[in-house]
Amino acid sequence: MAAVLEKQKIEIKPTGAALGADIEGIDLARELSPKTVDAIKEAWADHLVLRFRGQKLDDDQLMRFSANFGELDWAPVIAASRVKIPGEDRYVESAEEGRRYISIISNIVENGKAIGALGAYESIWHTDMSYNPEPPCASALYALEVPPSGGDTGFSNMYVAYETLPGELRQQVEGRLCRHDSTYNSAGELRRGFNEVTDPRQAPGADHPIIRTHPVTGRKALFLGRRRNAYIQGFDLEDSERLLDALWAHATRPELTWYQQWRIGDLVLWDNRCVMHRRDEFDPNTRRLMHRSQIKGDRPY
Ligand code: OGA
Ligand code: MN
Repeated sequence: MAAVLEKQKIEIKPTGAALGADIEGIDLARELSPKTVDAIKEAWADHLVLRFRGQKLDDDQLMRFSANFGELDWAPVIAASRVKIPGEDRYVESAEEGRRYISIISNIVENGKAIGALGAYESIWHTDMSYNPEPPCASALYALEVPPSGGDTGFSNMYVAYETLPGELRQQVEGRLCRHDSTYNSAGELRRGFNEVTDPRQAPGADHPIIRTHPVTGRKALFLGRRRNAYIQGFDLEDSERLLDALWAHATRPELTWYQQWRIGDLVLWDNRCVMHRRDEFDPNTRRLMHRSQIKGDRPY
């Protein structure tokens, strides 16, 4: 009975943009009933990005909530072992080492070490970890500290990107695989243990279909990953570049996007199979602190 009542209290409020909805009336610090989880999953399939405001979560609670959507995945290989100090012309060692489920996304520097990844710079449009054969199906970001302005996170709907793809472009990429480069992160930093790559045909990473089918909804989505060092197999580099430029221009049009302006206590969960995301830069002298989890996914098809 309690579970039913709990489910009835959930309110789904779509953003009105191409994707995204607020889920209201739910405390994620509590263990959720299966019915509530089902209702959230349904809303997630419909809206691709869900925002839960006013939450108060520790890492265990963030992990428990995330595990409702699948098996927790390891955090990504972090960027360079040296991280640029925001607003200064020097580098410090990164404190982010080892493997963990919760990663820290932050520009904060403590005791000469960056406590998290991505600094205060812009993070360009991407899919999380699509350079792996089995990229995560979802990521969640939970805001503990937010700057007074800047650092908004944008999301773009890749179902609509596919559905509105001009016919000629669609024909050229249908059935094609694209290389998803693993060399650089979304802030343009070289990942730890990688060497610089300038020829996309030589880039390390995974090959995935440019048009993929979502395993839950059955809908087709454009799947681009990251622009840098991308390469469409079977084309000349020049043709691959031309096609990729056209695909990217199409997939990042403002009408496909919605931007999250962060408040402390926001938890945003996105479907990494049908959504790309990016982040605005922010003033490096202000503080932004996010804790992030991710869920294991399957091989794209
Ligand atoms: C991420 C990411 C964007 C942000 O955590 O995968 O891209 O807004 N973060 O910090
Ligand atoms: Mn990301």
